[in-house]
Parts: sequence; structure tokens; C-alpha cells
Amino acid sequence: MSRDAGGAADRLVLRARGVEKTFVDGDVSTHVLRGIDLDLERAAFVALMGPSGSGKSTLLSILGTLLRPSAGEVAIAGENVIGLSETRLTAFRNRTLGFVFQYHHLLPDFTALENVIFPSFVIHGRETAAARKRGLALLDRVGLSARARYRSTKLSGGQKQRVAVARALMNRPPLVLADEPTGNLDRETTWRLVDLLKEVADEQGTTFLISTHDAEIAARCDRTVNVVDGRIEEAPS
Ligand SMILES: Nc1ncnc2c1ncn2[C@@H]1O[C@H](COP(=O)(O)OP(=O)(O)O)[C@@H](O)[C@H]1O
Ligand SMILES: [Mg+2]
Repeated sequence: MSRDAGGAADRLVLRARGVEKTFVDGDVSTHVLRGIDLDLERAAFVALMGPSGSGKSTLLSILGTLLRPSAGEVAIAGENVIGLSETRLTAFRNRTLGFVFQYHHLLPDFTALENVIFPSFVIHGRETAAARKRGLALLDRVGLSARARYRSTKLSGGQKQRVAVARALMNRPPLVLADEPTGNLDRETTWRLVDLLKEVADEQGTTFLISTHDAEIAARCDRTVNVVDGRIEEAPS
């Protein structure tokens, strides 16, 4: 079925073209990404695979606007992010993207609820009543309402990761990037987390791009893309 350009832009949360990244360290340069083309549709649940060192984290950092590519174009929710200043990018990132990392990166002196609300705090400069309500609802959604007032350091690994998922969803971003989110968890906790991600992706229409080494996780995704020699190869679905 053919669509016009406007329709395609509406349907896509992410469009990357010709993304390259070369790291230069003294006289050693490493050409990690060599022309990444990737489209992600709304509410897609996509696994990003590839051997260790293939550039998955580098790609997620670039798509997450945390790292600038050496070349190429990235549009997120219709916005060309390559041209944005650091100040604009910070605001854009906070409203449009959610992140879940292998090591949760929660703020240790904050409670579970304060960590979840943090992305809203950054926008409003204070804890609003609406943010508190949404934060509590998200904690309930990830099965942690009884832990809202716990300091994040008191939570188990799986609980911390569920707080990180709730935090990633706080500002209702259309795209969540997850870098080996279960890399640190046992099997049982891994399945619970992946099921949770998939449920919230369906419920909220959020797109997830999840890097993983785990073929069983990829099997639960709608689609798998592989980083091979610095480019994307689509796995047959
Ligand atoms: N900041 C950096 N400076 C230099 N090289 C880097 C940097 N970050 C990553 N690399 C290199 O880029 C390659 C891809 O790394 P990475 O994106 O972490 O791969 P993956 O997440 O797939 O394991 C590796 O060879 C790594 O050593
Ligand atoms: Mg990595």
C-alpha cells in the first residue's frame, strides 16, 4: 500500500538515515556505525541485536540524542534532531524520549516515587499534584505502589528496573530506548520485565527499541534488527 509523505511521517516515531559514527582517540579512529538506516513505527516493540562491540549502545546514544553522529540524519516524532542546540535537545529529550539502561541510573538519595516523577520535575521545576498522581499510578502499574516511599537503594535489582521503566514513561514519550535492560537480572525477573514492557507498549502506544543479546527476548518482540558491520540488517519475522 502506498502512502503519501505526510502519512509516513505520522506513522513513524523514528527515522534514521545514513547514520555514521567514528570515534577518534589520539591517532586511532574506530568507524563503528557505517550508514544506519532505520524506521520505527508507532507502538512497535523492536529488538536491537548484534555482537558485543557492534555498536548497539553507540546507536542507542545517538538515537537518544545523547551523542552526535559523525554523519547522517535522525528525525524523532517528526523533528530533525541533528540541527538542535544542546539547550533545545535537553528539553526535547525530556519530553520525547524515555531511557532504561542496564544499570538503572536511579538517583540514590531519592525515593522510588521521586525517581519516577523526576522527568516531570525537570519540566515544571517542582512536584505538581498531577505528576504525583501519575507517578503513583505508574508505580502501581509496575507493581510497586507499596514501595513508593522507599529509597531507591533499598530496592532489589528487578524492583529498581521497574522503577526505571515507570520513570521512562513519566512524560508519556512516544519512544523508549532500552540498553540491555535485563542484562543484570535473573531469568524469572527478566521475563516479568519484558512482559511488563510489552504490556505498557501496547497500552500507551509507546515504541520500544531494546538492545539485547538474548534471542528469547528478541522472540517476544514484533521485529528484530541486527547491527552487522555498522549497518542494520533486518531479521526475517
Ligand atoms: N567513547 C568511545 N570512544 C572510543 N571508542 C568507543 C567509545 N564508545 C564506544 N566505543 C567503541 O565502539 C565500539 C562499539 O561499542 P558499543 O556501542 O558499546 O557496542 P555494543 O553496545 O554493541 O557492545 C566498540 O569497539 C567500542 O570500543
Ligand atoms: Mg552496549
